[in-house]
Amino acid sequence: MTASISENLLGWYGRHARHLPWRNPPGAPLPDDPAWPYRVWLSEVMLQQTTVAAVKPYFAKFLAIWPTVEALAAASDDDVMAAWAGLGYYSRARNLLKCARAVAERGGFPSTEAELRALPGLGDYTAAAIAAIAFGQRAVVVDANVERVVARLFAITEPLPGARKAIRAAAATITPEHRAGDFAQAMMDLGSHVCTSKMPRCLLCPLAESCEGRKQGEPERLPVKPPKKQVPERRGTAFWITRAKGTQVWLVTRPPEGMLGGMRALPDDGWSAREDGAGKVPLAGDWRRLGAVRHGFTHAHLTLEVRALETLSRPRGEGQWWPVDKIGEAGLATLFAKAARLALAAD
Ligand code: ADE
Repeated sequence: MTASISENLLGWYGRHARHLPWRNPPGAPLPDDPAWPYRVWLSEVMLQQTTVAAVKPYFAKFLAIWPTVEALAAASDDDVMAAWAGLGYYSRARNLLKCARAVAERGGFPSTEAELRALPGLGDYTAAAIAAIAFGQRAVVVDANVERVVARLFAITEPLPGARKAIRAAAATITPEHRAGDFAQAMMDLGSHVCTSKMPRCLLCPLAESCEGRKQGEPERLPVKPPKKQVPERRGTAFWITRAKGTQVWLVTRPPEGMLGGMRALPDDGWSAREDGAGKVPLAGDWRRLGAVRHGFTHAHLTLEVRALETLSRPRGEGQWWPVDKIGEAGLATLFAKAARLALAAD
């Protein structure tokens, strides 16, 4: 029965696989291209906590600028952070660069899950995904989509995150020796298009006959999620400081550690995901209140007030004057891009 699960799924994948820019077609031999593992790795890092639609333009941009891991390894931190701006979860970009440099140093990606796992900033999921997809090795790849499919297929009723061990063990029993990369991506496609979170489309599912969750009724109740944590509300202020009749704006680079570390940003009052702003103003003056923007992080919801000042003075601390008409190239994280849009709309 477990063999028929993978066979049914791979058959379905042959007919319904999504065509994605980082994918090999179902059943095709692995591409004979030294940059192939790089593309798989890049896509897998970008796809963590991020939708396929959001990743596509970033994947294309990164490959256009840095077509190989060696090219990426030679890039400056600033350029990579700016290119990542808008994709979120910025620690991924910092880890990406660390990992690229280690890979370039050792002369290419290793091909086993254990060696991949030993690279800096590369976790269990990514190591398994690259081993399977880029190198065709058998590895058990479990992301949130796979987790949902497996929990339903085996009717695993223990709540997450405790259920992860059982889900992984169950996933291992259906992962085939060959085509593990296709199998992993077929599970992902099934999870995102058929075995969806709220309304699974069991009539279209190639695994419906084997699905214990469906047999027991209400597969949409699985996996059982832990109660949602209340996300704290935070408040802060961003400062839009201009000179030369609003044509240049003062930007800072955030400290390497902590929230949005290493990203170019508007100066703020010391707000972080843990604390509300301390009300620090970088310059004395007659500040205009422009309104506020809202932004959701994983660990906090933020209301960021935006204040503006046209000045002849240089604000305190490190920073640079940036041409306002090139603000789109500054690499601002989405939060600060929202604040900049508000400031520009107010002018
Ligand atoms: N999510 C994570 N990895 C993916 C992949 N290779 N294809 C589609 N969605 C994914």
